[in-house]
Amino acid sequence: TDNIYILAIESSCDDTSAAVLHNKKVLSNVVANQKIHEAYGGVVPELASRAHQQNIVPVVHQALAKANIDKKQLSAIAFTRGPGLMGSLLVGTSFAKSLAMGLNIPLIEVNHMQAHILAHFIEEEDFEQPSFPFLAMTISGGHTQIVKVNDFFSMEVIGETTDDAVGEAYDKSAKILGLSYPGGPLIDKLAQKGNPKAFTFPKPKVEGLNFSFSGLKTAILYFVQRETKKNENFIATHLEDICASIQYTIINILMDKLKKASKETGIKQVAIGGGVSANSGIRFALKEAEKKYGWKTFIPKFEYTTDNAAMIGIVGHYKYLSQDFTKEDITAQPRYYI
Ligand code: KG4
Ligand code: ZN
Repeated sequence: TDNIYILAIESSCDDTSAAVLHNKKVLSNVVANQKIHEAYGGVVPELASRAHQQNIVPVVHQALAKANIDKKQLSAIAFTRGPGLMGSLLVGTSFAKSLAMGLNIPLIEVNHMQAHILAHFIEEEDFEQPSFPFLAMTISGGHTQIVKVNDFFSMEVIGETTDDAVGEAYDKSAKILGLSYPGGPLIDKLAQKGNPKAFTFPKPKVEGLNFSFSGLKTAILYFVQRETKKNENFIATHLEDICASIQYTIINILMDKLKKASKETGIKQVAIGGGVSANSGIRFALKEAEKKYGWKTFIPKFEYTTDNAAMIGIVGHYKYLSQDFTKEDITAQPRYYI
C-alpha cells in the first residue's frame, strides 16, 4: 500500500478531467473546459455530453503522459458516479468501467460532493489539511451545502440551498447586468471597485442552515428595471456599486449560515471548496472570522476548487486503502447524496 497509483475521471457537468495520483500526491490533473456553453449563458446538457465524448480519450492520454506512467502501473480507476448531469456522468462512468475491465484492475465509484471536501487532503506544499471534525461549505455553480465532516466517509449535510446554487445567483445576476458567462468572476472583479453599501437587497428568510438565492435574483431584476426606467444609463454608470452591493449581500448570506453552523456544532475549523471559493469577498470574510471568532479556515489550491479529477483521485486513494471497490455493473447516479 505504499505505491498506489490511481487514475481518476470526472465528467459530472461541463469539464472533462483526468488525473493520476501517486499516493496522496497529484502527478497530473488535466481539465478540458467546454467553451461551447458561453454562447448560451449556461450549461446545455446535451452539448456537454457530446463534448465529453470527444474529450475523454485525449484527456486521459494526456493525464497518463504528464504523469509519465504506463497504464499497466495503475492500481485502480476512480470515477465520478454522481451527482451531476446524467448524459455527462454516463460518458465518464462507461469509460472508467471499460478501462478497468480491460486492464483487469479495481474500479472505485466516487461521490462528487465528497470529493470537493476531501480535495483538502491532497498533499500539496504550503497547504495545511483540516482535522476531524470540521465544517465544509461547498459553493459552486451547481451546489451550495454546509457539511459536518466527522471522518473521511462520515459526513452530514446540515444545510443546503432550497433553489439556486450560489454560483448560479452570481451568473444570473451578471446576465441581468449584461455581463458575459460565467459572470461570477466578473462581478467579483467589479465589486472590488464599488461601494458595497450603495444599494440594499433583501436577505432571504430561510429555516435553519438552509439557503435560498432565487429571491435575490428577482429582487435584482426588478431593481435594475425600475432604475433603468428613471435613467437609461443606470447600469453603465453604477455597475461597480451594483456589483459590490450584490457581492456584499451574497457573502453576508453565506457567512450568516456558516457562523450559525459553527455556533450550533461548536466546530471552529471551516473549509471551503467549489468554484465560488475563488471569490475575494468570501476569502476576506473567512480571514476576518479567524481573527474575530478564532476560526481556522482552509481554502484549497485554485485548481482543486473548481471541478477536477484530482479530487476524485484522492477519494479513490482512501477507498483503495480500505479496499472499497465497485462491481462492474454499477450505473451513474445523477442524484447522489453524501
Ligand atoms: O466549481 P465550478 O467551476 O463548477 C461548478 O459549478 O461545479 O464553479 C463555477 C461557478 C460559476 O457559477 C462561477 O460564476 C463561479 O463558480 N465563480 C465565482 C468566482 N469564480 C468562479 N463566483 C464568484 N466569484 C468568483 N471569483
Ligand atoms: Zn463540483
